[in-house]
Amino acid sequence: MSAPTGRDAFASNLGAFAATVGSAIGLGNIWKFPYLTGSNGGAAFVLTYLLAVALVGIPVMAVEHVIGRKMRLNAVHAYRSVVPGQPFWSAIGWVGLVSAILIMAFYTDVAGWVFAYVFKSLGAFVSGSTLTPETFGALAGGTWEPLFWQVAVLGLTMGIIAAGVSKGIEKVTKRLMPLLFVLLIVCDLRALSLPGAFAGVEYLFAPDLSKLTGPVLLAALGLAFFKLSLGMGTMTTYGSYLPEQTRIVPNAARVALADTLVSLLAGLAVFPAVFAFGCTPAGGPGLLFNTIPLVFAKMPMGGLFTVLFFLLAAIATIGAMVSLIEVPVAWLVEKGHVRRPVAAMITGAFMLALGVPATLSQSPVLADVKVFGMTFFDLFDFLSSNVFLPVGGLAIAIVGGWLVSRDAFKKELNKGYAAEPWHGRAVYGFVRFVAPALILLILLNSLGVLRLA
Ligand code: TRP
Repeated sequence: MSAPTGRDAFASNLGAFAATVGSAIGLGNIWKFPYLTGSNGGAAFVLTYLLAVALVGIPVMAVEHVIGRKMRLNAVHAYRSVVPGQPFWSAIGWVGLVSAILIMAFYTDVAGWVFAYVFKSLGAFVSGSTLTPETFGALAGGTWEPLFWQVAVLGLTMGIIAAGVSKGIEKVTKRLMPLLFVLLIVCDLRALSLPGAFAGVEYLFAPDLSKLTGPVLLAALGLAFFKLSLGMGTMTTYGSYLPEQTRIVPNAARVALADTLVSLLAGLAVFPAVFAFGCTPAGGPGLLFNTIPLVFAKMPMGGLFTVLFFLLAAIATIGAMVSLIEVPVAWLVEKGHVRRPVAAMITGAFMLALGVPATLSQSPVLADVKVFGMTFFDLFDFLSSNVFLPVGGLAIAIVGGWLVSRDAFKKELNKGYAAEPWHGRAVYGFVRFVAPALILLILLNSLGVLRLA
C-alpha cells in the first residue's frame, strides 16, 4: 500500500509495529543494556531506565511519529517545515544525521563481533570446544579481523537499504523477532538454574538507591533514547511511513513494552551467569560475549543454542542498522535526488570513515589515543547516547508540545479514535511538561549546574 503522497509505506498495522520494533530491538537490548547495567551498579540503574522509558521514551516516540506521519518527509525536511517560518528546527534533522553516523561507527564494530561469533560458535560446536573470554579479547582487540567484520556488516546493511523501504525492512525484521524472544527465554531458564544464580536476579531488581549518581541518571536517560531509536529522526522517518490507521500512542506503548521485555530477558540471561561463574558485572562491552557461551556450555545441544543465539542477535542488529542508515538515506534521496543505492553508498562511506577509528581504538593501534579521556569507541558512544540524542529529544518535545498547533498535533496523535482517548490526553501532557523537564534536569545535573544526585 502506498501513502497518500505516493511515498513507500509499511503495508499494515502489524507491519508498522514490526518495523518499529525492528528498529528498536538490536544490540541495545542484548549488548548495551547488560553492559551499562553492569557498569552502573545494577538495579538502581535499571529502575531509572524503566522510568525514563515510560516518562520520556513513549512521549518522544509519539511526537516523532506524529511529526513524521503529518509531514510525510525525511527528518531534516519534516522539522524544517513543521513549524512554519522557523526553519531553525531543521537542526534536529541535521544533528540527527551526525548522530546516525556516530552511532553506526561503534554499532558496526559491535555488530561485527556478533557476526564473527556466529561463525566462531559454529566452529566451536563442530569441534566440541567452548568460546572463552580469550576468544573475545583476541577478536575485539585485533586489527584486521574486527575491521573485516565491520566492513562486511556495513556492506550487507547497505545492500538491504538499497533495495527499498517496505521490501527491504519489513521482510527482514517481521518473522524473526519472536524466535529471538523464545531463545532468550531458553537462555534465561538455563542461566537461572545455575548454582548461585539468584545473586544476579537481586543485582538486576533490588535497587540500592545510593548508587544513583549524576552519571548513572544520564546513562539511563541516554539508554532510553538509544534503545527506542529516539532523538535523531529515525522514528520521525519511520513515522512518515506509518499508515493512517495506526494508533500512535498504543503502538508506541507496545513497542516500548516489547523492547523493554527483551532487554530484561537479556539481563536475566547475563547476570545470573555473571554471578554463578564469578565474573565481574562491570565487565564492559565484552560482557555478553563472555557469558552467553558459558551459560549454554553445559546444556545438551548447548553449542547449537549458542550458534542460534548469535545468529538471531545478528539478524536483530540488521533491523536496527537499517533504521539508522535510513535516516541519511531518506534525506539524500529526497534532497539530492540521488537513487537509493547511491545514497546508501555515500552514507556508508561516512560511517566507515568514523567506524574504522572506533574499531581500531579497541586494538593496540589506536588504544592510546584519547579524547576527553575516552577512546574513539567510548567517545562516539557517549556523545551520541548521552549528549546528541537527549538534546535532540528535548528539541523534538519542544517542537511537538509547544510549537506545533495543539489541534493539529492532537488530530494526528488521536487518528483512529472518534473522541480523544485518555492516553492521548496524558501523552500530550507528558510531551509538553514531563519529558522536557526531566531531560533538562538530567542534562543540567550532569553539567554540574544542578545537584540532583
Ligand atoms: N535501538 C537500537 C538498539 O537498541 C539502535 C538504534 C537503531 C538507534 N536506530 C537508532 C539508536 C536510532 C538511536 C537512534 O540497538
